[in-house]
Amino acid sequence: MLKRIRTQDLTLGMFLHEFCGSWMDHPFWRSKFLLQDSQDLVRIRKTSIQEVWIDTAKGRDVAPSTVAITREQADAAIDNAFSQLADMPTFQAPPEALQPQPDQPPTSMQEELVRAAEICRRAKSAVVSMFHEARLGRALEVPDLYAMVEEISASVARHPNALISLARLKSADDYTYMHSVDVCALMMALGRQIKLNDTQLRTAGMAGLLHDLGKARIPLVVLNKPGKLTDEEFTVVRNHPVEGYRLLLQGGMQDAAVLDACLHHHEKIDGKGYPEKLNGSTISLIAKMTAICDVYDAITSDRPYKRGWDPSESLRRMAEWSHTHFDLQLLQAFVKSLGIYPVGSLVRLNSGRLGVVIEQTPDSLLLPRINTFFCTISDQRIPPEVVDLSRPGCTDKIAAREEREHWRFADINTLCMGMEPLPW
Ligand SMILES: [Fe+2]
Ligand SMILES: [Fe+2]
Repeated sequence: MLKRIRTQDLTLGMFLHEFCGSWMDHPFWRSKFLLQDSQDLVRIRKTSIQEVWIDTAKGRDVAPSTVAITREQADAAIDNAFSQLADMPTFQAPPEALQPQPDQPPTSMQEELVRAAEICRRAKSAVVSMFHEARLGRALEVPDLYAMVEEISASVARHPNALISLARLKSADDYTYMHSVDVCALMMALGRQIKLNDTQLRTAGMAGLLHDLGKARIPLVVLNKPGKLTDEEFTVVRNHPVEGYRLLLQGGMQDAAVLDACLHHHEKIDGKGYPEKLNGSTISLIAKMTAICDVYDAITSDRPYKRGWDPSESLRRMAEWSHTHFDLQLLQAFVKSLGIYPVGSLVRLNSGRLGVVIEQTPDSLLLPRINTFFCTISDQRIPPEVVDLSRPGCTDKIAAREEREHWRFADINTLCMGMEPLPW
């Protein structure tokens, strides 16, 4: 049986099933193992992760008096929270910050995907050269970056999901660079959801683009190491917010909010983050936003040594971690901006068909458009067919999320775009 317990209640002999936090937050290569080494116990308690799942069928159980949550209890709490989400008012930025956002003529997803592909290509090359210059110790070209942020902003305004969906398709090798582009777009989608004004949206996008600049100072052998990090390596990695802040100052960055997001995007609301152990009341809005967008992109992305999680599953895990990690109101707004089943989620319909979510629909978080391609009843592929669950008269609906790992469809990313994989 799976139980969620506090890390302080972990003991040797327990089977660690999963950390309740992103893999950026711990130095272990695997998250499933029998705890036999007291040093591992010390290292786990030194991380910013406060809770873990243990499997009591494979290792020691907790004492009966210890606080523990079962998988069923955790799932029921998330189902309950998500089912109420549509009726809950979305957190909004303070009224003095509000001003109308420019009306962009909306475009279809397919139309915007074509434009977004070109923007992604150019944004990636801008980020590659930015990291390259930072490695060489040269200054940032801030005006060029603002032009890039404007383009990403305009794409998100024309269609909120197109560029985000494309950036998700990054290869494991492109992660470091496309992660910056993706977090930039996610920040702007979240910013629009909470009604930031134009200036704040630009700042949010820039914060996303630059938040991990400090990773340019991490040796590549450590940054891309496909194994457990040593304590020294983990310390180097955890220093990237401070390094990034320093590089931005050196480059003449004057936007205090961008500097703040870079320095504080790994802070947590329970005060266990880094580098300054700020808490919910002292972390700024922009840093809280960056933390959410950063973790979502990290856990949904494929890495050389780890497959990304399904988007809807990722949102559920983040909801589970929110009481220690994220600002809950902002996380709710984030889920509203992406949908409870974001583009790319693999789902099973009542009819027995499997499909990937290809687009959100305006009025429901639970009724997206889905590209169906497999029948679980006949257990075989079927010709792809797009089903709009929000269409009047549509009787099908989502029965369950499905695990990508279980099905391992090689062409799932192509199916979720309705187009060929993009060459970057
Ligand atoms: Fe980071
Ligand atoms: Fe990041």
